[in-house]
Amino acid sequence: MRILILGGTVFLSRAVAVQALAREHKVCCVARGVSGQVPDGARLLVADRNQPGELARAVSGESFDAVVDVATMSLPWVRDALAALADRVGHWTFVSSINVYADKATTGQNTDAPLLAPHLGPTAAEPSPDVDPDVYGATKVASEDAVREAMGERALVIRAGLLVGPGDPLDRFGYWPARFARGGRAIVPDALDQPFQYVDVRDMAGWIVSAAERGLAGVFDGSGPRGTLGGVLDGIASAVGAADLTLVPVPPSVLLEAGVTPWAGPRSVPLWVPPTYLGFTDRDTSPALRAGLAVRPLAETAADALAYERSLGLDRPRLAGLTAAEEHELLARLG
Ligand SMILES: NC(=O)c1ccc[n+]([C@@H]2O[C@H](COP(=O)([O-])OP(=O)(O)OC[C@H]3O[C@@H](n4cnc5c(N)ncnc54)[C@H](OP(=O)(O)O)[C@@H]3O)[C@@H](O)[C@H]2O)c1
Repeated sequence: MRILILGGTVFLSRAVAVQALAREHKVCCVARGVSGQVPDGARLLVADRNQPGELARAVSGESFDAVVDVATMSLPWVRDALAALADRVGHWTFVSSINVYADKATTGQNTDAPLLAPHLGPTAAEPSPDVDPDVYGATKVASEDAVREAMGERALVIRAGLLVGPGDPLDRFGYWPARFARGGRAIVPDALDQPFQYVDVRDMAGWIVSAAERGLAGVFDGSGPRGTLGGVLDGIASAVGAADLTLVPVPPSVLLEAGVTPWAGPRSVPLWVPPTYLGFTDRDTSPALRAGLAVRPLAETAADALAYERSLGLDRPRLAGLTAAEEHELLARLG
């Protein structure tokens, strides 16, 4: 197949290019080429999607069987791509997010759950999703609608959950393999029965490619099976933890009082979720698993995430987690 990936230079979209090449497809990527490089064997069509008409120019005269778009916060990007390509490709995958759902707290929901109202605003520039998760989710809703309207039965919408593994630019999951490999007393949230699910970026990418091959259509919540945060942290500790690692559960109230934030960001305990957001880490993903999303063992994801962390440097300033000094000070305070 000839596959066009709108992206291809970082994390998920790059992993899709890698998987498509491994299956001997012809791969073109559209990006500016500033975030990284496309994998060897893929062709880069340079275009800035913030410049109207650039994408259409970049793909003119080219033909593709399938498109994969990961546009994050820009409805105009999605519309421009559809205007340029929808009438001449057979299959379109749009990578959306579980941020589309209006109810963030209820666990075990599926794709029938109510969505945020679509955000139609002219967000030509693409800010970080962290700027406003609701604008992010609402823009994804509008983008999904545009894809379905243009592609109909040829559209696959994947509402991705937490993506983890090598190349992760957000530093959240990788905090744990890096921390547990260092050993000693490691703070974990005393919320280990918290529902939790994730998907290895390579498994998601493989599914996206096989879905394009099969012409899979519809809407799926794309993540791994439902589990608990404790189960995942234990699995990471078993896979890559140092011999002297001891997990020290600290109650959420104590963490919050000490100015530690859940989920992500500086001075955080990554992947710990406040009760009002548990719906994000516990969706019914069985339809995706039945439709071909195959998940590798946690031990493999943990080992490969650690290798990636080591390649970046374990002592680097992180986007998410506690620094060694912050953790030390908290442990001293707890006695
Ligand atoms: N991370 C998670 O846990 C998570 C969870 C749920 C859903 N998702 C979704 O998963 C997808 C992740 O995609 P990703 O990992 O490939 O990262 P991404 O940051 O969404 O992809 C960025 C791609 O777009 C290109 N790009 C950025 N600005 C551009 C511009 N102005 N013109 C043309 N291309 C531009 C980048 O290349 P250049 O910069 O080189 O141009 C890069 O290849 C997104 O759809 C995200 O919403 C992620």
